[in-house]
Amino acid sequence: MTDLVRNEPERSGYPDSADESGRQRHFIEKLGEYVEDRTRRTGKRPSACVVTFGCQMNARDSEKLRGILECAGFELSEDEGADLVLYNTCTVRENANLKVYGRLGYLGSLKKKDPDKVIALCGCMMQEPEVVEKIKKSYPFVNLIFGTHNIFKFAELLCTALDSERMIIDLWKDTDQIVEDLPEQRTYRFKSGVNIMFGCNNFCTYCIVPYVRGRERSRRPEDIVREIEKQVADGVCEVMLLGQNVNSYGKNLEEPVTFAQLLRQVEQIEGLSRIRFMTSHPKDLSSELIEVMKNSEKICRHLHLPLQSGSSRLLHRMNRHYTKEQFLDLVARLRREMPDLAITTDIIVGFPGETEEDFEETMDVVRRAEFDSAFTFIYSRRSGTPAAVMPDQVPDEVVKERFGRLLALVQEISRKQALKVQGQVQPVLVEMMNEQDPHLVTGRLSNNLLVHFPGTPDMIGTIVPVELTRCMGFYYYGTMCPDR
Ligand code: 5AD
Ligand code: SF4
Repeated sequence: MTDLVRNEPERSGYPDSADESGRQRHFIEKLGEYVEDRTRRTGKRPSACVVTFGCQMNARDSEKLRGILECAGFELSEDEGADLVLYNTCTVRENANLKVYGRLGYLGSLKKKDPDKVIALCGCMMQEPEVVEKIKKSYPFVNLIFGTHNIFKFAELLCTALDSERMIIDLWKDTDQIVEDLPEQRTYRFKSGVNIMFGCNNFCTYCIVPYVRGRERSRRPEDIVREIEKQVADGVCEVMLLGQNVNSYGKNLEEPVTFAQLLRQVEQIEGLSRIRFMTSHPKDLSSELIEVMKNSEKICRHLHLPLQSGSSRLLHRMNRHYTKEQFLDLVARLRREMPDLAITTDIIVGFPGETEEDFEETMDVVRRAEFDSAFTFIYSRRSGTPAAVMPDQVPDEVVKERFGRLLALVQEISRKQALKVQGQVQPVLVEMMNEQDPHLVTGRLSNNLLVHFPGTPDMIGTIVPVELTRCMGFYYYGTMCPDR
């Protein structure tokens, strides 16, 4: 039996952000009472594990979900054997959904042995009604389902689920609400993602994101700056500004602000050393942004600029609003203005109607743009999107063969691009101990390349000069030069 709590408030009924964060803090306290009570009963603090699927937006949401759990007193764990397991799901490609179903089967077997285990699901996949129907039918042991628009209500919903024998489901179709000032538990002490906007208005015809993450909403610059200042006071030196299309930031604010203007404000924050951002839509990349990047000491030399396809015909069918030539012109301009800029991209192979000629156009752009790296995806049919019902879907064997050719080319070019910084000394943010060799640390260059070099744990979170001695294809070995 499921208990369907559908809560889709009227637009006029949205509470004010400050009221809502106060309300949620009340539920975090209530959760805390549950945790204390359970700890007294069992002699052990309950543990909680949040598993993230998908993109950096989800990774950031998971930090907030963990923050709520930690604040309530749960012991955070990486182990799915924990007393509470929350999956923060992704649905951008079919594979992402299949992974979640597979792992839910495993969680079900754990719950058979431990009936008190609490299983919760949230994120993009839950915004799809067919998914929720399937979970109700095939995975009835799930305790709580919520979506992308009401993630700030996690503490409240978990309180309800803990009081109920039934599955609690709370899904909103959309929202214009942004709740500020909730706790966070960052994965890294020294770097953090910061949402600057939510949702997407572009409706690329293959993409499900606008349906599951709703319309574009920007946070106010003063809220963003305040959040970063707080993080910097807490040890953060690098931020990644996050949005589906950061180049259209600020258009819907009461007092419109451009993304470049926001970057200028973020740059002023003392103690912040590095600024990254993701993702830029090529159609909206302004000259003002190029100027700000070029003149900045803090903005990293890396731009993620999804191409999707090199064929102007397909780009039109994808609703991308640029042509092959416009994309190539933009890349040439960026390289001219910032010769040390790394440009990375996303490419989809096998979009409906893709002919060999279209695919060759993509290969041509890859050769000419010389991407520093590229994420390549096989087109995945997402029901509800316009492309899913386009008649000329490309056969699997053809797509696989093209995908192989594209991957080989992308890798060849990435290797060549990585060689460009060989022998240079560059500032590196040390991120972690090397996973294979305990004498090495792993750090990141401004252009996003990784370098491994001899170092010690106390260096983590600091920026040090490193000579890039040996290029290993997609990463470097180096040595620190403390005197540079
Ligand atoms: N099939 C394959 N790839 C997709 N992406 C988005 N939707 C799909 C889809 N239906 C890719 C795009 C996007 C990246 C995040 O995921 O390349 O830039
Ligand atoms: Fe999807 Fe296009 Fe929006 Fe990116 S810009 S999230 S690909 S609809």
